[in-house]
Amino acid sequence: MIQLRGIHKFFHRGEGHEVHALRGIDLDIGTGEFVTVIGTNGAGKSTLLNTIAGVYAPEEGTIAIAGRDVTRQQEHQRAGLIGRVFQNPLDGTAGSLTIEQNMALALRRGQRRGFGWGVTRERRERFREVLQSLGLGLEDRLQAPVRLLSGGQRQALTLLMATLQRPQVLLLDEHTAALDPGAAAQVEHLTRQLIDENKLTALMVTHNMQQALSLGTRTLMLHGGQVILDLRSPQRDGLTVQDLIAHFARTRKEVLADDELMLT
Ligand SMILES: Nc1ncnc2c1ncn2[C@@H]1O[C@H](COP(=O)(O)OP(=O)(O)O)[C@@H](O)[C@H]1O
Ligand SMILES: [Mg+2]
Repeated sequence: MIQLRGIHKFFHRGEGHEVHALRGIDLDIGTGEFVTVIGTNGAGKSTLLNTIAGVYAPEEGTIAIAGRDVTRQQEHQRAGLIGRVFQNPLDGTAGSLTIEQNMALALRRGQRRGFGWGVTRERRERFREVLQSLGLGLEDRLQAPVRLLSGGQRQALTLLMATLQRPQVLLLDEHTAALDPGAAAQVEHLTRQLIDENKLTALMVTHNMQQALSLGTRTLMLHGGQVILDLRSPQRDGLTVQDLIAHFARTRKEVLADDELMLT
């Protein structure tokens, strides 16, 4: 479903503060795979998702989604293939618009300009139905402005909107990190449910290693812009956070072996 070949991404290339954020990423993600992505701050996790989404064009390498080469496509040109949820609950929805208006906008994602986004009776019924499945009571608040929702409710709505059109790829960037534990657990449960029900191909960045192992079918660890661990069944089955940390320490030593002088 997603193929990355030799992806390099720089920021401020050629300037004194050049950052080589992705250093030769080769990745094949199959249809229906649910990949969790971990790694230290600055490892390149968000850049990887942004590059897949077309926010950044890589300086080198190619990207294909669903069999199409999208390397030179801008973000809006591939928006119809991709659903996204970010860390900040304010990012995914328009606070001044109502729940149903936000959902109507989500239906329009990736469509031709001029495609109507009015809230018809039919759509309202559909929205009510899918909101009911959240179990948050939002189906009775279709005409409430989204700014009145809690962070967790808003993130749940964003997730629902991101999957309403059954995207080819769902990209989640620490989307539970800003929530209190109760809301985070709720959104995590919903994430699992929506990905399962819609058989979505998904990448989920998390800094929670336990979450990375308990959710999904595959786990990537990024470090210094490279994939340093790629775990799938059966190696991934029954793996603990301690195992992951041990793996990391071992692999990092190998990766850094050449630079070891820099560390001493
Ligand atoms: N828009 C940007 N402009 C300049 N540097 C950036 C930008 N986005 C990310 N970076 C840099 O690229 C590296 C990877 O960042 P990022 O992908 O955000 O890491 P992560 O999400 O794993 O914490 C970091 O060194 C970061 O400072
Ligand atoms: Mg990030």
